[in-house]
Amino acid sequence: MSVTSLETIQDYRTVVRERHSVRHYDPNWQISQAELMEILAEASLAPSSSNTQSWRFFVFHDKELKQRLLPIANNQQQVVDASATVAVLGDIEGYKRIGDINDIAVAKEYMTPEFAEQFTANSLKLYGGLPPEVLTRISLVDGGLVSMQLMLSAKARGYDTVPMGGFNAAKLVEEFNIPSNLVPVMLIAIGRAATPGRKTSRLPIEQVTFWNGEGL
Ligand SMILES: Cc1cc2nc3c(=O)[nH]c(=O)nc-3n(C[C@H](O)[C@H](O)[C@H](O)COP(=O)(O)O)c2cc1C
Repeated sequence: MSVTSLETIQDYRTVVRERHSVRHYDPNWQISQAELMEILAEASLAPSSSNTQSWRFFVFHDKELKQRLLPIANNQQQVVDASATVAVLGDIEGYKRIGDINDIAVAKEYMTPEFAEQFTANSLKLYGGLPPEVLTRISLVDGGLVSMQLMLSAKARGYDTVPMGGFNAAKLVEEFNIPSNLVPVMLIAIGRAATPGRKTSRLPIEQVTFWNGEGL
């Protein structure tokens, strides 16, 4: 449960309908590290390839650090005014921690030690043989899933977010010394809206769904 007075866990239907990308934030609203960590922990319940959880979160919380991010993010002011901006990164070497992940599962008695050992060995062999492009693609897919869950977890607590692809990935890596195994997925600003996000429309679901592949 939330550690701040903002606690307003809302039902799923409300959360998905009321989440809108917010681009104007109250710069005076602070999100605590503890609460942000709770949101990130909830986001990380997202599924991932072989449960490798190769997402990493670079949290821009300090004002000065957010200012340095601003020009890299096409001067999108929400990067600074939001309580925090999270750079979601995908670790293309994240699969190397599969042993640690499976050890936790063994400790929780979700897996037998024998199964964990086999699963770890198989995964290391499989992922270790994949080319960087495939590992990158996997990281981007898993990073997208965790990003969505982060935004919904934030909304469930009464926070607003906006995902951002409008940033210079190469400059981000350079400016903040991000190691080469970490691939930027997206930036997500999180805070309290100063102006509500505008409503957006969706195509009718029938136009984007092909029942049994018909009409594709
Ligand atoms: C991958 C991705 C990149 C995006 N990049 C930006 C961005 O750089 N700046 C921005 O203001 N909104 C950005 N958006 C937000 C979209 O414009 C927004 O999600 C879309 O218009 C639908 O509106 P909604 O989120 O309010 O439902 C991005 C969304 C996604 C999923």
